[in-house]
Amino acid sequence: MKDFIAALPKAELHLHIEGSFEPELMFEIAQRNQIEIPYKTIDEVKKAYQFSCLQDFLDIYYAGAGVLIHERDFYDLAMAYYQKCYENNVIHTEIMFDPQTHTERGIAFETVINGLQKARLDAKEKWGINSLFIMSYLRHLSEESAFETLKQSLPYKDLITSVGLDSSEMGNPPTKFKNVFEASVKEGYIPVAHAGEEGPAEYIWEAIDILKVARIDHGNRCLEDENLVNEIVKRDLALTVCPLSNLELRNTDVMTNHPLKKLLDKGIKATVNSDDPAYFGGYMNANFEAVQEALDLSKEDIVTLVKNSFNYSFATDEQKRYYLEKVDEVIADFN
Ligand code: ADE
Ligand code: ZN
Repeated sequence: MKDFIAALPKAELHLHIEGSFEPELMFEIAQRNQIEIPYKTIDEVKKAYQFSCLQDFLDIYYAGAGVLIHERDFYDLAMAYYQKCYENNVIHTEIMFDPQTHTERGIAFETVINGLQKARLDAKEKWGINSLFIMSYLRHLSEESAFETLKQSLPYKDLITSVGLDSSEMGNPPTKFKNVFEASVKEGYIPVAHAGEEGPAEYIWEAIDILKVARIDHGNRCLEDENLVNEIVKRDLALTVCPLSNLELRNTDVMTNHPLKKLLDKGIKATVNSDDPAYFGGYMNANFEAVQEALDLSKEDIVTLVKNSFNYSFATDEQKRYYLEKVDEVIADFN
């Protein structure tokens, strides 16, 4: 199974670039930029990465992102992630970035996007990896701040495919961002949103009915509302599920209780993703291995998850056909 998972080409649909910031690179960039960080050794970092909830994690994640200053820093961050994609056989990835995490600290939008874009071009050339960008609004900030971010993004509109919604979910329902999502869609961005990670099923209803998302990030808590499950199936909306994240943020107590198999059994188009791999202990293959083992997923389940990742990506139909052919080639090799 491990070899099968590793050999399959995959698409990643839920990845925060700031969450792929490995401690080694963080030390290097902090030193380069002469910024003090509260850890001296990798061991100290690992000890700090014990989370009791989403907010606990977010506090540490935003602090870590604080050492990113120059275009080169964003380039290095993204190249390190693309290298992991190569190692994990991720051939298509849809990368979220949080502009406000940086613009709030006085870093220009341009610095962030230029660093990411240079890495995207180099990763395509070096490893053949295709990727697109999802600009995520921070939901703990105001809608006005999201509007400002939308405005800053417009000169780079051609580089950005989609808009998302992340950060502290409880108390920040999707409705808070109704107007800015409407405006973003008018600019041509495809809407997605985190919903039902910690927040209730009601937030998932809002994400689909009010923000009109094309995909739901996490969405695990839809299982608490049967009508919602039926609606998600009926509207053919995919969920970007993140197993190791759910475990580390205690949205799942033990992996054997993870809802992924239940979601698949209900006919929901689930996908497997790493979310913030540097913080949650694993990239794509590790996420697949963890759920496969805990839930005793079959080869057919793994194939379904992998095919879902391509079918529900924002790739072109032509790209999708090519990707699915590659998947079928590997399946044939293993039979
Ligand atoms: N930002 C980065 N990771 C996140 C997550 N899992 N949930 C909400 N916001 C995030
Ligand atoms: Zn996320």
